[in-house]
Amino acid sequence: MLEVDSMENPMDPGRSRAFAGRRVAITGASGSLGLALLRAFHGCGASLVALTTRVEPLELGSSDGTPIALEQVTWSCGHEADLRELFSHVDILVINHGINLHGDRSATGLERSLEVNALSCLRLLELFAAAQPSSPSAQPAKGPQPCREVWINTSEAEILPAVSPLYEISKRLVGQLVSLRALDLAGPELRIRRLVLGPFRSNLNPIGLMGAAFVAQAVLRLAAWDWGLIIVTPNPLTYVLFPFVVLARWTYLGLFSRPSSSSEAPTPST
Ligand SMILES: NC(=O)c1ccc[n+]([C@@H]2O[C@H](COP(=O)([O-])OP(=O)(O)OC[C@H]3O[C@@H](n4cnc5c(N)ncnc54)[C@H](OP(=O)(O)O)[C@@H]3O)[C@@H](O)[C@H]2O)c1
Repeated sequence: MLEVDSMENPMDPGRSRAFAGRRVAITGASGSLGLALLRAFHGCGASLVALTTRVEPLELGSSDGTPIALEQVTWSCGHEADLRELFSHVDILVINHGINLHGDRSATGLERSLEVNALSCLRLLELFAAAQPSSPSAQPAKGPQPCREVWINTSEAEILPAVSPLYEISKRLVGQLVSLRALDLAGPELRIRRLVLGPFRSNLNPIGLMGAAFVAQAVLRLAAWDWGLIIVTPNPLTYVLFPFVVLARWTYLGLFSRPSSSSEAPTPST
């Protein structure tokens, strides 16, 4: 039974070691998973930046009602470049925002889905990769300095049906674009992790099987175990198929594309 929304966040020493003191920015912060991730990172001692399209203040409390301190930054698709300066002071960027227009197949719906679910994510990835980090905020007691990280929340809809064609197409696109650009952007200074999640309850999917809090805790646990491909789903097919898809893509894209010479982020036309 995956109904564990009310689960407390036990202070896990492994997770705390991995994220304590790190500055984490999360898009889609006011959504179900955004809020759950903010709480989970807070439980690990990270400092929080909520990237949201809302202008109203975001109030976040822990399970005992204690308010959680966070910096709220308003952004919108097409204006990603406004976040350039902020990204110099962020250690982990979680690209989590998304929309699901379900049965819509209109030209407007297509454009919105591609813009929100794919193109804005790609621009954020490029900007974050190009940002010059200021002095890192996380200073581990011992061991090497952790590198900056981008986590991209695609979906198992990247490879499996989600009864929402535009959602699947846009998630597949962002998944493929991330695989392509990771060949140049990922390295010792930037780690790119992919979150592949199954159905959880949220505004986007009110009938999801899992709870967002459970998913957020599982994501952080797997990340603390150093996994780069983070799969959380009740569907066993995803665990079998996804690693093959990623490996096949990586091989194909690596063989048939050339390294790029510039890491300069393109400026979106607004
Ligand atoms: N729920 C599922 O079953 C499921 C499964 C796999 C993957 N996912 C993915 O998980 C992520 C989080 O989704 P969720 O289920 O937590 O849904 P959610 O509660 O609807 O949250 C999505 C958030 O995305 C942001 N957003 C919406 N429209 C936007 C726009 N036009 N531009 C920029 N940001 C926008 C909003 O946050 P702000 O108002 O704070 O900007 C919204 O609250 C999504 O990428 C989704 O595709 C969900």
